[in-house]
Amino acid sequence: MSSSISSPKPVVVIIGAGAFGLSTAYHLLERGYTGVTVLDRAEHLPAVDAASTDMNKVVRSCYGDPEYTRLARQAIEEWRKDMWQNCYHECGVLNLGDAYTEQSFNNDLNDGAKVERLDSPASIRAQFPSDLHNSGRLGTFTSLDISSTSYINHDGGWAEAERAVGLLMEHVKKRGVKVLPNKTVQDLVKDEYGQTKGVRCADGSEYDANVVVLALGSWTAGAFPSLKLTGKCLATGQSIAMIQLTPEEAEEYCKTPVVLDFRTGFYVFPPTHRNVVKFAIHAGGYTYTAPGSTLSTPRTIVSDPESGMWIPRSILKELRVQLRSVYPALAEKPFSGTRMCWYTDSPDGDWVIGRYPGDSGLVLATSGSGHAFKFLPILGKLVADVIEDKLDPKLAARFAVDREMKPPNGERTSVVSQELNINELCGPEDLIPTF
Ligand SMILES: Cc1cc2nc3c(=O)[nH]c(=O)nc-3n(C[C@H](O)[C@H](O)[C@H](O)COP(=O)(O)OP(=O)(O)OC[C@H]3O[C@@H](n4cnc5c(N)ncnc54)[C@H](O)[C@@H]3O)c2cc1C
Ligand SMILES: *[C@@H]1O[C@H](CO)[C@@H](O)[C@H](O)[C@H]1NC(C)=O
Repeated sequence: MSSSISSPKPVVVIIGAGAFGLSTAYHLLERGYTGVTVLDRAEHLPAVDAASTDMNKVVRSCYGDPEYTRLARQAIEEWRKDMWQNCYHECGVLNLGDAYTEQSFNNDLNDGAKVERLDSPASIRAQFPSDLHNSGRLGTFTSLDISSTSYINHDGGWAEAERAVGLLMEHVKKRGVKVLPNKTVQDLVKDEYGQTKGVRCADGSEYDANVVVLALGSWTAGAFPSLKLTGKCLATGQSIAMIQLTPEEAEEYCKTPVVLDFRTGFYVFPPTHRNVVKFAIHAGGYTYTAPGSTLSTPRTIVSDPESGMWIPRSILKELRVQLRSVYPALAEKPFSGTRMCWYTDSPDGDWVIGRYPGDSGLVLATSGSGHAFKFLPILGKLVADVIEDKLDPKLAARFAVDREMKPPNGERTSVVSQELNINELCGPEDLIPTF
């Protein structure tokens, strides 16, 4: 039987041109699909306020869960290939630890990653260029509980996120995928049996499909309230800050690993090509229930051009304290900016990739839970497997839309989010350090 060769592939419309949407388009192409369209509401792509549009993202296989370690290591193999045009920088990932890193160390080790256990402050400091050791520009790491696991994983680093998304978008467009900006999808179009058969946009245009994939990231729950997705993909605002270095300063920090402190969620990157150092805290973040709304929706520079980039003042201070523990000299410098970036959180931290219950025409591909970007090269394989009803049953159960949510997986010390108080946002005056 040659049915797989001769039978026509379904027409697929993907909503959202972020990591989930574009990776899905890519993997459908790889499987011979010819009728793939991606719709995104942003006037210009990649969307400035998408989670995937960012200067950099951590690429790590350090997961307390062996399945993510395995998938991340597959993704890293892909990131190294020519297709990604050196978007991926393999500087190593330094994990400062607790119980979670004990598990992730074992998972990395079992999967063959190049890991080294670091059991003293001196061995941690040895992961940084020797010039930084002088004149107090590197933390002492003496607050670490040495009985817990800290380690370096040399198979990891960071990716230029926005550039990678742009490359993937151009790649799929060249191969025939229609990627249409300025298309705000408002409604699902259903057939007489209540099955999704297309979408309708704010401008009145409609797109027919055999399968509609919802990959709207943190906008997913708010865009389709009737699907009742709040408990599965909650929009939480996460705070990041940046420092602009001079080229001379950047030179001193450029041979550093990504540092992840799992005890606090703090992480800091080496400088980018534009000499910017970015850092953040991977935590519960903030919900934002806009006036007139009943669920959390992203508040960004697009929805709130005046203040959508500013983060809570208390978090700004905390970022400075955490930065001081790794790079004391940098913590004395003014920050060059902040950004509120929106996670799509599931309660258990696992993605939501599966068919919407009772609707064979509707697939969800979202809930990155703050850690999906690194999988960009392979994420869409899982979604394509769902569309083709052949996702590994264990993964299918784990990512199912209607699974029973387990407690948080321990990757973040806190996943409790607070409601954002916009009166407590920082402003330009807070970027300067005060002591
Ligand atoms: C601060 C921060 C740091 C992170 N760090 C890391 C990291 O270090 N490593 C890592 O692996 N992951 C990280 N992540 C997580 C990662 O960014 C996300 O998991 C991933 O980018 C999510 O991709 P997405 O496609 O779901 O969403 P998005 O990239 O947000 O894409 C959603 C798209 O949907 C579009 N859209 C919205 N509404 C509509 C509509 N009505 N109609 C049409 N289109 C619409 C938007 O314009 C957008 O382009 C981080 C996230 C944040 C916020
Ligand atoms: C986006 O679409 C609207 C109509 O829906 C139109 O007025 C606007 O000019 C479009 N923007 C771009 C950049 O095409």
